[in-house]
Parts: sequence; structure tokens; C-alpha cells
Amino acid sequence: MGSESVVQRGLQDVVALESRICFIDGKQGRLIYRGYDIRDLAAQSTFEEVAYLLWYGRLPTAAELASLRTTFAGLRALPPQVTEILDRMPKDANPMDVLRTTVSALAIFEPGETKSGPSSIGGAQRLTAALPTILGHFHRRRAGLPAIRPRPELSHAAYLLYALLNAEPSPLDVNAIDVALILHADHELNASTFAARVTASTLSDLYSAVTSAIGTLKGPLHGGANERVMELLDEIPSPDRAEAVVQARLAKHERIMGFGHRVYRVEDPRATVLREWSRKIGEEKKDLHYYDLLRAVELVVMKEKGLYPNVDLYSGSIYTLLGIPHDLFTPIFAASRVSGWTAHVLEEYDDLRLIRPTAAYVGPPEQRYVPIAERK
Ligand code: CMC
Repeated sequence: MGSESVVQRGLQDVVALESRICFIDGKQGRLIYRGYDIRDLAAQSTFEEVAYLLWYGRLPTAAELASLRTTFAGLRALPPQVTEILDRMPKDANPMDVLRTTVSALAIFEPGETKSGPSSIGGAQRLTAALPTILGHFHRRRAGLPAIRPRPELSHAAYLLYALLNAEPSPLDVNAIDVALILHADHELNASTFAARVTASTLSDLYSAVTSAIGTLKGPLHGGANERVMELLDEIPSPDRAEAVVQARLAKHERIMGFGHRVYRVEDPRATVLREWSRKIGEEKKDLHYYDLLRAVELVVMKEKGLYPNVDLYSGSIYTLLGIPHDLFTPIFAASRVSGWTAHVLEEYDDLRLIRPTAAYVGPPEQRYVPIAERK
């Protein structure tokens, strides 16, 4: 017993597989989807285009994009049995639990061809189209808002905002959400994508893989950090108090959410784009409170810990100004990342190899079994 092997805790720096989907340059702070820099995609494309890019490996033509939009619009409604399950969930349930449970339930009531059509791409589109409806249905019920209408004329970003807010979002608000969806769509072998690929590598189905991924994204060290950033901001009344509040947390050895990253050694490029959008939306709404606080927090964390912001630092300030409750931030992350999860699952199916690492055994040495009557 025992092992001589070197353990890479948290699989840090382990190259687990080859992928054609996403490249992160952690030293230069660049993020590339299928060869395209996310800064270009955020400035010029839409979530639908990016989802197409992730699934098919190339940008769509105008006709292909229009067709995907129509497909999304047609896949938004939920089966009545799933709506019934959603209606039985407690109104104070965690929305990530709701999402995970509902995706799992959807697998049971969905027709087989949707789940396992050609390479399951139908399932990828179905889940991506349905997530805003699941979130909107749950949130509207708990908030006492009227039921969602299908709204086929709305883009994915506009539909997500409409589903959550029951209002006609302004073009700038839709643009902000679209950019956030684009930036969150994929991130190589992050924990939730890895979880999805592990599940798929057993030849389990796409819905099971996405269910695993949602449970993994929920944690505060991953997607849950954006909600915790707002909890920190709620403790800071004005920028001049940022230093004291952050220092008090660091003195207690607490992590400051929205900072640090396993891969980036410089600023996360998604944080750079979202900072700009936080300012833009703040200026439009004439409310730069959160933006100013975050700038102040950034300075302190850099001075005290030398840590750069990650994608989760600024997203919550934008969502809050759009009127979205804090506990829906991580679900919005999921509503975008589902495109990346499913692209990775499809890639896994195409180049399948069971993901099954080994552990170095550090438990007790071999023991003699003692019958229960003889145990003291
Ligand atoms: N606040 C305070 N200290 C930190 C932070 C932070 N946010 N991040 C890292 N450190 C410290 C950490 O305490 C450790 O110090 P020491 O060596 O003295 O113990 C050192 O930096 C290295 O940290 P690590 O935990 O070994 O590094 P990691 O690669 O495992 O951590 C991380 C990556 C994202 C889990 C971590 O930076 C963190 O906990 N950040 C806060 C949570 C957060 O914002 N998560 C969102 C990540 S980006 C979105 C996503 O992809 O999911």
C-alpha cells in the first residue's frame, strides 16, 4: 500500500485532455473561443452567435443565425409536468437548486429525440433555450408576477431579461446582458465544465452532465462568487470605507470574492470588459455607487494581496442596476455557461475516454477484520 506518485492538489496545472473549444492565456490575460478573442465577440457579436460558434466550431452565416434564433424561440416552453414541479417548489428555495432539479426533471419528461438527437445538439439547444424560462417561471411565481409568454420575437438576452423582470428592457440593458452572456459562455476546463465532461465520459446523457455542472457551478469558489461580492459591497457604505472593511476580512483570513484565479496571473479579460459595462450602465442609470465601491475595493485588494479581479467582480453590479435580485446572479452564469458545458459534452462524446484519475492512498495500513462480537 502507499504511493510514490506526486499529487497535484485540485488537479492544478494538470492537462487532462485536448479541446478545440476555448483557449486561456493566463499570462497575457486573453480568452479565445474557437480562435476568436472574447473582446471582439463582446463588442460585435451576440450570445446566439457565440453559442453557435461553440457548438459548431465556426461563426454562423446570417441565415444560420436566424435559424438558431427561431429554434431557440421554439424551444422555450416547458412540458406541463415540469411546470407543475416548479410550482411545487418552495418560494424561498435557492434558485441554483431549482435550476439543477428542474433540468434533472426535464430529462424525464423530454422526448427522447430532443435529448439524444444527432450528437445531442438538439439537447444542447433545448437546454440553452429553456433555462431562462425555468428561472423566469420560478422567480415570477415567488415575486407574484404574471406568467411568462413565449415572446418569439425576443433575442435570447432580451428574453432572459423579460423572463426575470416582466418589463420591456431597454436596448442598452439587453446589450449589457448579452455581453455578460457572451463573456460567461465558456472557460476551458473550469470546475463545472470538468464535472460535465466527467459525467459525459461515462457515456451518461447530456442532461445528467448539465445537472452535474449546475451543482458544481453553485459553489462560492466558482460561480457563486458574484453573489458574495454584493454581500461585501453591502457592508461598505462609501468608497473611503473600503480599505477598513476589506482589511477586517483579510485579518480574519477570509477570501475577497471576485479576486484571484487559478489560471490568470494578470487581470481576467472578462473583468476588464465588465468593469467598462458597470461604468456604462452606472452612468446611464445615474448610479455609480457600486462602480465606485468596486474601484476602491480593487485598489485595496491589489495593495494588500496583489490579486487581480476576476469575472465575478463586476457582473453583480450590472445585474443589480438592471433590477435583478442577487440570488439570480449565479443562475444567469449558468444560463450562459450551459452553451459551453454542452459544447464540451459534445466534444467529449466525439473523442470519448472515461475520465477516471487515481488517488494516492494515505489511509490506515492493512487491518485484520475483527468480528463485531469481539470488538471493544
Ligand atoms: N482573497 C484573498 N486571498 C486569496 C484570494 C482571494 N480572493 N484568492 C487567492 N487568495 C490567496 C490564498 O489565500 C492563497 O494564499 P496563501 O498561499 O497565503 O494561502 C493564495 O492566494 C493562493 O490561493 P489558492 O486558493 O491556492 O489559489 P487557487 O488557484 O486555488 O484559487 C480561487 C483560485 C478562484 C479559488 C481563489 O482565487 C478564490 O478563492 N477567489 C475568490 C472566489 C472567486 O472569486 N471565485 C471566482 C473565480 S472566477 C469565476 C470562475 O471561473 O468560476
